[in-house]
Amino acid sequence: MKILAIESSCDETAVALVEDGRILLKNEVISQIPVHERYGGVVPEIASRCHIEAIEPLVERTLEGTVPDAIAVTYAPGLIGALLVGVNYAKSLAFTYNLPLIPVHHLRGHVASNYLTHPDLKPPFTALIASGGHSHIVHVKSYTEYEILGKTRDDAAGEAFDKTARILGLGYPGGPKIQKTAETGNPDAIVFPKVHFKDAPYDFSFSGVKTAVVNFAHTAKQRGEEINAPDLAASFTKAVCGVLTEKSVLAAKNTTGKLVLAGGVSANGDLRRMMEESCKKEGIELYLPRPDLCGDNGAMIASQAYYEFQAGNVAKSDLNAYATMPVDQPIF
Ligand code: KG4
Ligand code: ZN
Repeated sequence: MKILAIESSCDETAVALVEDGRILLKNEVISQIPVHERYGGVVPEIASRCHIEAIEPLVERTLEGTVPDAIAVTYAPGLIGALLVGVNYAKSLAFTYNLPLIPVHHLRGHVASNYLTHPDLKPPFTALIASGGHSHIVHVKSYTEYEILGKTRDDAAGEAFDKTARILGLGYPGGPKIQKTAETGNPDAIVFPKVHFKDAPYDFSFSGVKTAVVNFAHTAKQRGEEINAPDLAASFTKAVCGVLTEKSVLAAKNTTGKLVLAGGVSANGDLRRMMEESCKKEGIELYLPRPDLCGDNGAMIASQAYYEFQAGNVAKSDLNAYATMPVDQPIF
């Protein structure tokens, strides 16, 4: 079964064609980073307009005459205007060609990038989903049944990377820039806070580390001191990736013994190394997504759509988009 998927939840217009959830046939992305860069972050209205311009040529380039068996689309969560562009386009394609329309939750899509990377990976497993808007530890009981074990109580991990990069004047998106800057820094130069909750061992909080970075930069400025950007980036990375690793490895240990990483932050080389070390020590099987499938892409949506279809999750033409939607909520 060949599924054409459309992803337009944030700043990438992405379209892909995947066979049977696992075979990646085409993966096309038009990134809006150059457009949003000058504003230091995503401007929702501009994002919607860019999606409208990009979507049709991308679909044509992806299909090149192939007729798919179904159309899938990210319907939640994300920027509402951006999501609506994808949902409406997908609806019109499904209607025109009389094909099933499969709605996909963006975060379930991120997890599915691992199905395209590891042919043998099957639920149940435990997953860390760390992106620009979410930081979740989930128990993936089956392809379509999720249980949230923990999540951030304030900022997402990716958001903390983006904010720290902005403070250091590194630009947007911050994650890759912090990673590069951290390469020559000393991770023990500055001790940033790591938050733990007694009653919720898998919950995160990243607003404290973000504030600590802001305070550190202000104090340095007031004293007329130069900030050592590599040291700050490396120390920040150690704190954030350290806490992501500790909590998800613990969750995997207490649930399935298998840990899957997903979302934009899973591209981070330091996080991947820390996870590898810790999982080896604790005897946890670790699955990392292909680096080119960590960020937003259509292939992950097409992959998850295959399993949503198997579970009977097919939408009608009244499908709507939602800015927020819990990952564990059944689609219908
Ligand atoms: O999953 P994603 O592409 O989009 C959302 O669904 O939000 O995640 C984007 C986030 C951004 O905050 C970006 O800074 C972060 O992922 N990110 C990284 C890296 N690459 C992207 N964070 C840390 N290290 C990276 N190499
Ligand atoms: Zn994403």
